[in-house]
Amino acid sequence: MLINFEGIDGCGKSTQIHLLKQYLEEQGKQVHVYREPGGTSIAEEIRSILLDSKNNISAISELLLFSAARAQLVQEKIIPALDNGTTVILDRFYDSTTAYQGYGRSVLPIDEISMLNRMAACGLVPEITFYLRISQKLALQRRLKHAQDRMEMAGMEFYSRVLEGYENMIKENSRFIVLDGAQSIESIATEIRRHLLSK
Ligand code: ADP
Ligand code: TYD
Repeated sequence: MLINFEGIDGCGKSTQIHLLKQYLEEQGKQVHVYREPGGTSIAEEIRSILLDSKNNISAISELLLFSAARAQLVQEKIIPALDNGTTVILDRFYDSTTAYQGYGRSVLPIDEISMLNRMAACGLVPEITFYLRISQKLALQRRLKHAQDRMEMAGMEFYSRVLEGYENMIKENSRFIVLDGAQSIESIATEIRRHLLSK
């Protein structure tokens, strides 16, 4: 089973993924977690290029680098894990490209982004996508605790477009489960488990 977590930076993805992994392992499941961009040595190298605030990266180049990192992760790790019956949890997948590069940067029409996403993901589609919905204000408060990376420096208007993009995607895709990211960590975790049990 392939599960991805989505939402703006600071929405609580990593926190929930950590709890979900623990829970599934307690049920005897084999679970692998990967973050995007990253998860393989090549993809981690691409990640450092993408997030380095010193780099001035063109919008198309950014789109292709995120996609290249994904293609590597999919072929090297995700497909073999799924073939093995392992549950794969992704901290972001191609929905982030649609939201950030498609809506946020408006680099290409969304249908062209979707084509590239299908190519980079080798046609894989997550079974379930948890979207942690939070306001920009709350996300910013949570993010202030650490230094801003290159993407996080993109500004409020950029993040408004990203949020709008996610809302459009939620309307169009039944695999999205929307969670209120402003709730307590424990109540969100309970809701995630409830959704998985009903699958
Ligand atoms: P993401 O992976 O989406 O960037 P994190 O899980 O790293 O987000 O969370 C960002 C910060 O917010 C962390 O300091 C984390 O402890 C805190 N946090 C996560 N979820 C909640 C929550 N539901 N309520 C309050 N704080 C939270
Ligand atoms: P990361 O620190 O992993 O994310 P988070 O802040 O959610 O914990 O940083 C990844 C950044 O890259 C984040 O700002 C989202 C962005 N991103 C894209 O713009 N496009 C993509 O396809 C992916 C996977 C991430």
